[in-house]
This record gives sequence, structure tokens and C-alpha cells, in this order.
Amino acid sequence: MKTEQKILEMLKEKPEDFVSGEDISEALKISRTMVWKHINALRDSGYTIESVTGKGYMLKGIPDLLLPAEIEKGLRTEFVGRQIHHFDELDSTNLRARKIALDSPNGTVVIAEEQFEGKGRTGGAWASPPGGIYLSIILKPDIPPDHLHRLTLVTGVAAVETLNELGLNAEIKWPNDILINEKKVCGILTEIDAEADAMNYVIIGIGVNANTKLDTLPPITMLQATSLKEETGQVVDRIAITQRFLERFEQYYVTFLTDGFPSVLKQWREYSSTIGRRVKIVTRFRTILGEAVGVDHDGALIVELDDGTVEKEITGTCFHL
Ligand code: BTN
Repeated sequence: MKTEQKILEMLKEKPEDFVSGEDISEALKISRTMVWKHINALRDSGYTIESVTGKGYMLKGIPDLLLPAEIEKGLRTEFVGRQIHHFDELDSTNLRARKIALDSPNGTVVIAEEQFEGKGRTGGAWASPPGGIYLSIILKPDIPPDHLHRLTLVTGVAAVETLNELGLNAEIKWPNDILINEKKVCGILTEIDAEADAMNYVIIGIGVNANTKLDTLPPITMLQATSLKEETGQVVDRIAITQRFLERFEQYYVTFLTDGFPSVLKQWREYSSTIGRRVKIVTRFRTILGEAVGVDHDGALIVELDDGTVEKEITGTCFHL
């Protein structure tokens, strides 16, 4: 545990009381000056800490931010989120993750409170006002680059389960949009850096409209979007949701790597609202219309066209008709 986190723990143990600088310095075996420096660093991250000469320090307020110290506390993962980089504002967590990926351990997470160039699938933008959860996970799996679609579906399963823990009935629209009553609450963008047949790293970006005020989204997005706050009728605990997502993600990711894709695909099918629906699939090359009849072992959608022929698409935008 980092020193700042240890100091926080000590302050949290005495919610209404002062903890003396001396006690902290003795417990952590650091000088009083260092205690003071760490307290100021905590203040800079948003914690309100009162200090009174002769009494010490009292924790007065924890900011509503996805701070690493709050997420790491009680996070039940082996490697996902063991290193978290937090920013008040970023262009895009996926872009930042790319910059640090090669020098970062597997499972490193980048989080931003706001993004001013949030990236969506198919080159679109992802509106990222305050209140949402915007994070990217850096992974270094030993899988062929063309298995990336499977990883996207694995992420969708972890995301939908996390949201349904809040008592919601979220579903997955192929390949990886999480919808509640046909309105989008969460999107996933998987990016890759690979040689011809070897993966350098994967960045999994996930954006959740958590406590997002819907009227802060662009009008066109607003019509098709919802938020967890809107659906549950209350402000949600973004820290707990982030922790649960990282835990579930790690669990499914490890299952995927060790037992293979079929075990996770079974869950995906259970949560998907696409299968059995009439759909329009738009890819870079064509548009097809038909009934979604299944997903194959690569994660490709199987569509039965109106003339009875069966087609598969590995990626594209899906519209439920
Ligand atoms: C989609 O279009 O459905 C995918 C949206 C993905 C948004 C997330 S937010 C965190 C990460 N950083 C980005 O710039 N995009 C992803």
C-alpha cells in the first residue's frame, strides 16, 4: 500500500477525530515533514483534510472522484487495476493508455473524469461529460490479433453483469453496446497494437453513462442514451461500479485465456438482445438485412437474409429493427 493510502486509512479510522502527525510519523516510520507533504498531496487530489496545531489532521471530505486510493481499497483482483492512473481531464483514456502501454504492467488502468476527445467505435466520438466512468485497461495477452473480437465480447459480458448487479435489466446489442430498454448506457472500444501475427498490447476502453446528466450529451446522442442515474432513480456509486467491473472483467478475461472463448460466449448469448431480432448490419463494405440467428465461435454475428441465405459479419454496426 502506498504511504498516502496508509495515511488515508489512519484518518478514516477516526472519522470525527484528529490523528496526530506524531502518530502517523511513528506508525509509518516517516518524518513529520513527509507526513505533511503526503497530506498536501492528498489535498491536491481533492481530499479535504483539516489540520490544527497540537491536534493533528482530520479527514473532512472525500471527493466524488474515481481516485486510485478509493478504487484500490478492497479491489479483489490479481492484476487488473493494480496500477491506476487518474486524470481530471484527458483527450481520451485510450490515447493515454497507448502512450504508456509498452512501459506499463499488464492490467494497468487509465481513468479520466472527463474526456474532450473521447473515441467511439467506427471513428465516432464518445461524449464524456463529468459524472460518467471513462476507463481503459492495458492488456498483454498471448493471443493472435484476430481473436480481438472475442475479447470485446468478453468485456461486454463483464460490463452487463456489473450493471445488472444494480438491479437493472441491461442487455448486449451485438457486438458490444450495453442497452437498457434499447437506450445505450455503456460502450466498449477495443484497440490493438500488433505485428503481423503477434500482439504487442490491447487497450480496452469502456465508457459508462453513470451519473451523467443526459442534457449534457449532444442532442442526437441524448435521444438514444440513458444513464444509470436515470434508470435507478438515484446517484450511483461510481467507485463501487468501477471496482465490480474490474473484478468481473479479470475473472472473465482469465476464463477466456485459460478455458477458451466458448465458456464466455455462453454467457454472452444469455445477455444478448440481438439474437432472434430483425437487424440491419452496416459494415464498411455492405449493408445487410435479416434475422440475427446466432453468434459463432469467433464472435461473428450470423444473419439469415430474407432470401434464406446465411451470412456472417465479424464487425459492423447493428441496428435492431
Ligand atoms: C462506442 O462507440 O460504443 C465505444 C465507446 C467507448 C468509450 C470509451 S470511454 C473510455 C475509452 N476512451 C475513449 O476515448 N473511448 C473509450
